Formats: sequence, structure tokens, C-alpha cells
Amino acid sequence: MPLYEGLISTRAIRRYTGEPVPDDVLRDILFAATRAPSGSNRQPFRFIVLTDGAVAAEAKRMIGAGARKFWEAKRLADGYGKGSGTRVDSPKSRLARTMQHYVDTYESVPVVILACFIRYREAAHTDGGSVFPACQNLLLAARALGYGGVMTSWQYAVDAELRTLLAIPDEVEIVSTITIGRPAGRHGPVRRRPLPELVYGERWGEAPVWAVDPPGVTHTAAGPPRDT
Ligand SMILES: Cc1cc2nc3c(=O)[nH]c(=O)nc-3n(C[C@H](O)[C@H](O)[C@H](O)COP(=O)(O)O)c2cc1C
Repeated sequence: MPLYEGLISTRAIRRYTGEPVPDDVLRDILFAATRAPSGSNRQPFRFIVLTDGAVAAEAKRMIGAGARKFWEAKRLADGYGKGSGTRVDSPKSRLARTMQHYVDTYESVPVVILACFIRYREAAHTDGGSVFPACQNLLLAARALGYGGVMTSWQYAVDAELRTLLAIPDEVEIVSTITIGRPAGRHGPVRRRPLPELVYGERWGEAPVWAVDPPGVTHTAAGPPRDT
């Protein structure tokens, strides 16, 4: 698949077939992840890949329990069962069903990857910038090889337990949890806000004339509140 096409059509995949991800595929995905850029090429990222061992099962159980609590609170707070969420075919209720299925079956997700950052200095605002490009490389590589995944921050609820279980040193932060598997659904064009809402020229809020969406692009209503 052409690189550009992959970039604009890699969706968050939260439903997987039960198929395991073979070791050589994991190797290729993680190889691409670890080829990502980082500040001064320090490569402070590390990845803990949890598949089907006893420790992996325990980690998935911990994260899954946290995920279910998180989603239940978000579902209620964000009113997923209200407004368009009451219509069975609305994007809101489809997302709610996908999320519910994701957290309910978390223990059977084929691969859970913890992306970590080795802290080598006091906190700096660019720290995440040396890990998140590797996370996106990982997701894009998975897509390129016929798989899919999604990044979450569900490790936070069980950070201390995971550190103990996985012998993670104090100077290391777990920055995200990525699940990977063979998609039960499909990738496809991602929907975002219109380009001129997101790209400005010489003044904040004013799009340059060239900032127009290609023909046929559809948009999402998701995002922060807007004036119009
Ligand atoms: C920093 C970050 C945190 C995220 N946290 C979560 C999360 O906690 N749970 C989840 O299901 N998805 C999470 N996501 C996935 C986003 O919801 C997803 O990328 C976004 O809705 C776009 O989805 P799409 O590419 O399929 O359109 C996160 C993504 C990012 C980049």
C-alpha cells in the first residue's frame, strides 16, 4: 500500500479476530516502531510486548479491569446513552458498542504493548515527543502488515501493579498501552475536522487558501466545541 494512503486511512481498531499475531510479524512491527525519530536520537522508548504467557494474562487482566471502570465512568459522564446515542445506527452508539466490546473482552486481545519512556533528565515538555512517534510507527506498521490497533492510556489506573508485575525500574514511565490484532472490521478513510479548521496561515484561526480538503472527504463532529 502506498505510504500516503496508509497514513490517511489507519483507523483505531478495537475489535480483533482471535487470531494470534505471529512472532515474525511482531518483530517487523516493533522493528518499524523502534526506527522512529527521537530527540538527539537517544531512543528513550522501550516496548513491553505482552502476548500469551502467564504474566501477559495477568497484565491484561489488570488493565482490562481498569479499562472497564474507565469506560463506565466516561460512558455516563459523556452521555453515550443520550441524544444520538439512543439511535442504534448513530456514530455515537456504534462507538459505544465498540468500546463496550473492547473493554469486556480485553483479556482476549491478542497483543498488548506498553510503550515506555526512560527518563534521563528532569521532566521536559518534549518528553512525549520521543515516544509517541514510535507509537504511531507501530500502528502504521501493524496496518501495513494486515493488522490494526489502538493507543490508550489505560495503564495509568494500574501503574503501580504493572510496575511490580513487570519489574519496571523507577526511572521508566509507561506512557501508553497499545493493543494489536487482526481487525474484525476494516480500516478506511479516517474522519477528522475540515482542514481549514485545523491549519492556519499567517494568523491564528485563518486558513491559507490552499488548505482545502480533497474531494469526497467526510468529516467528524467530534472535537472541541466550535463557534459555528
Ligand atoms: C494520546 C491518545 C490517547 C488515547 N486514549 C484512548 C483511550 O484511552 N481509549 C480508547 O479506546 N482510545 C484511545 N485513543 C484512540 C483515539 O480515540 C482514536 O485515535 C481517535 O478517536 C481517532 O480514531 P480513528 O483514527 O479511528 O478515527 C487514544 C489516542 C491517542 C492518540
